[in-house]
Amino acid sequence: MKLTVNGISHELDVEPDMPLLWVLRDELGLKGTKYGCGIAACGACTVHLDGVAARSCQLPVGDLEGAEITTIEGLGTPEAPHPVQQAWIDEQVAQCGYCQSGQIMQAADLLSYSPEPTDEEIADAMSGNLCRCATYPRIRAAIRRAAGSEGA
Ligand code: FES
Ligand code: FES
Repeated sequence: MKLTVNGISHELDVEPDMPLLWVLRDELGLKGTKYGCGIAACGACTVHLDGVAARSCQLPVGDLEGAEITTIEGLGTPEAPHPVQQAWIDEQVAQCGYCQSGQIMQAADLLSYSPEPTDEEIADAMSGNLCRCATYPRIRAAIRRAAGSEGA
């Protein structure tokens, strides 16, 4: 099958019921997207599917032909980070870091449809992304910072 990830088309020989998360990490070597729970309950595996946050542990790859997948590696670059990535750096959000790519992808989705979210909207949008290190206050601060920057 063909799968488009971060703007690059890949030919894959995989079982159609393989979760996208496995394809990203084991077939394409994109290790920024993390495995947390495997049951859509933690958000560590969040990517964008046609621009919308989605949990890659629960997406059979066979359903994704023709879709545009974006992972944390494709959101920005070290030279030109996405405003959410820059805000994460500025607020020094990460602790262990394990949950953070999922948090960033979820936050980028929020700002794409609500460029200046209220605290309630932030809480709602981020409530399903868990962080065992409890970086939640810095996550919220980074989202507010990114909301104030151009191009978020
Ligand atoms: S690993 Fe997908 S939501 Fe937890
Ligand atoms: S930074 Fe450690 S789990 Fe979130």
